[in-house]
Amino acid sequence: MASEEMVVTPWEVAGEIDYSKLIEQFGTQQLTDRLLEELRKYTGELHIQLRRKIFFSHRDLDWLLEKYRMGEKFVLYTGRGPSGNVHLGHVIPWIFTKHLQDKFDAKLYFQLTDDEKFLVSQNLTIKDTLRLTYDNALDVLATGFDVKKTFLISNVRNVQTLYKVAVEVAKHVTYSTAKAVFGFKESSNIGIIFFPAMQAAPCFLESAISGRNVPCLIPAAIDQDPYWRITRDVAPKLNYYKPAQIHCKFLPGLGKGGKMSSSMPETCIFTTDDPDVAAGKIMNAYTGGRATVEEQRRLGANPYACPIYYYEMFLFEQDDVKLAEIENRCRSGDLLCGEHKASLAPKVVRFLMEHQKRREKAKDVVSECFIDPCDKELQTSLGLEMF
Ligand code: TRP
Repeated sequence: MASEEMVVTPWEVAGEIDYSKLIEQFGTQQLTDRLLEELRKYTGELHIQLRRKIFFSHRDLDWLLEKYRMGEKFVLYTGRGPSGNVHLGHVIPWIFTKHLQDKFDAKLYFQLTDDEKFLVSQNLTIKDTLRLTYDNALDVLATGFDVKKTFLISNVRNVQTLYKVAVEVAKHVTYSTAKAVFGFKESSNIGIIFFPAMQAAPCFLESAISGRNVPCLIPAAIDQDPYWRITRDVAPKLNYYKPAQIHCKFLPGLGKGGKMSSSMPETCIFTTDDPDVAAGKIMNAYTGGRATVEEQRRLGANPYACPIYYYEMFLFEQDDVKLAEIENRCRSGDLLCGEHKASLAPKVVRFLMEHQKRREKAKDVVSECFIDPCDKELQTSLGLEMF
């Protein structure tokens, strides 16, 4: 796979990913131990996704923490493009976002870009994407967010609230900039050309609603960074703070190389998978092992080329000592791949069963979690109360 060129854009992630190179290319900052130390002051023990450098890069996190120290609370913002079922790769940053919500007692705006997915898809109707918005929102809530502090946004349904901020942003982004950043072509439809303004808008929503500047932190996978580059350039022109970011890596798929991809269902565990089917996917996964047992015993395997190991690291083995043990046993040839898969599978099954239970419960509350376009108070605070 090393020969395949690395591609990381909001629409495509391919090849072997060199995360240090991405920091350089995108011009973000590495999450240093010093900064993690700073975070620890507020969160206590560092979350596993920080200890294990799954969140590895940022913009202005130091600034945001300094504001927090001075008494300015921030809002969190993240999102999901509802193009299909949610898989574990999507849930990873949400789990971390929930941790931040808990520790900083922060409000969360969660955007579901049904407009975007309709605009870029060959076959999804608006109705399909709205259905997926509802469906994916259940997974968002099943992650455990505090429903009193979590505000879901369906771009199509809640545009009345978002549009005011989106047009303000759009006025300051030229076509030539958008084209350079996102690779739009003459043949691109005009909806998708406006869309970056829709994704930028929630960064400023809390400020627009409250009438004062409120810092915003976006935890998300690093492929979304191009949106924030544009948003950050526009922010000072609108007298808003630039949104801060914290970026994570991608959970690998169960096949060889690359990100988990919904278009290859055998490579992802979907949150709605029957747990037994998911266990089967684990048992059939590619690994970093050798061709024969004899070779593996003699030479050991490579955990860093193995999705099974990464599943443990990203989510399923929370205990650092046990994770190190897995790594050592794998390297030494003591742990065979079949054995390792068989011990991971029940953990995945348990996770899915619990998630699916919470997902069912979410059905009772989900509609109240969306921003309400008829909310008089909200519309008044945005200056939309005229008639
Ligand atoms: N464009 C993102 C996607 O396709 C969805 C999204 C919207 C998002 N706002 C976001 C992701 C903020 C992360 C943070 O998945």
